[in-house]
Amino acid sequence: SKAPVTVTVTGAAGQIGYALLFRIASGVMLGPDTPVVLNLLEITPALKAAEGTAMELDDCAFPLLAGINITDDPRKAFDGANIGLLVGARPRGPGMERADLLEANGGIFKPQGAAINDVAADDIRVLVVGNPANTNALIAQSHAPDVPAERFTAMMRLDHNRAKTQVAQKLGVPVSEVTKMTIWGNHSASQYPDLFHAEVGGKPVAEQVDQAWLADTFIPTVAKRGAAIIDARGASSAASAANAAIDHINSWVLGTPAGDWVSSAVVSDGSYGIPEGLIAGVPATSTGGAWQVVQGLEIDDFSRAKIDASVKELADERDAVRSLGLI
Ligand code: NAI
Repeated sequence: SKAPVTVTVTGAAGQIGYALLFRIASGVMLGPDTPVVLNLLEITPALKAAEGTAMELDDCAFPLLAGINITDDPRKAFDGANIGLLVGARPRGPGMERADLLEANGGIFKPQGAAINDVAADDIRVLVVGNPANTNALIAQSHAPDVPAERFTAMMRLDHNRAKTQVAQKLGVPVSEVTKMTIWGNHSASQYPDLFHAEVGGKPVAEQVDQAWLADTFIPTVAKRGAAIIDARGASSAASAANAAIDHINSWVLGTPAGDWVSSAVVSDGSYGIPEGLIAGVPATSTGGAWQVVQGLEIDDFSRAKIDASVKELADERDAVRSLGLI
């Protein structure tokens, strides 16, 4: 049988952690032949809650679960890690300025990046979920100089999945018929879900919906879905966020389907006018190794303006963390 893959989950005692760990252990993320060891990282006051989650994981008797380690030390949590799911982050408190938020998250993602650099396995792949995800990923990546930059990614997949369902419901087709969706830019309200390249029945979705729906209903519905969930549920997206994290890693490690792509925030190589080094959402494929940015898509003026606005927000966040000395 295969050697276990070590998966480190930060913020393991949080609500996404609770929705994530059981599904990883069940085998849906890495496939039914791959045993996993789960390393749970939490802050000290949440260790007991993490222990409770681990007790429940034990009680599932998952055949693929080869071990669980719980710690509040990033250097232990990332020791030998093949996959890092960086979920724990500092949320924006009432009255908190952006600089305070970035600084607090720098205090989390700097040491985690350094620990990944020093103790993770050579094939480490990182997905940052904790917000502001793209910039937190940039902070971690910049403190892991020995790890290829392309191993650090941020999650656009929840937005991607949300966008697919909005289109499927609008056109009355199964969600599986919506392909080539892209969420460009930042995982924030400025994100740009692109229907000019997304397809249903081999034709661009933009040709099958009216422009008013696309611009005034679809884009804001997807971009503000997180707030709508909070409003309805009284708590932020958790199971859907965990599901998206699993999808992201599954696509990266096991590959994306032929003729389709997914949305992933990857370190920019300058494609599509996105400044090099920013961790921005793009259309991407994988055959199991590195993400490949889908090249050569034509970008019309409407899309160009939306992509540029979201990318500018990312550049501003990068400049802010740079001036705070976080990268
Ligand atoms: P939560 O508050 O329920 O859990 C977060 C956990 O992280 C807590 O248990 C906390 O103790 C832990 N934590 C805090 N600092 C830590 C550190 N330095 N090391 C390890 N653990 C630490 O939050 P929830 O709902 O699980 O969300 C987690 C993050 O995911 C939030 O930042 C949220 O905004 C983000 N998110 C991102 C989405 C995306 O699409 N990228 C979607 C939904 C949520």
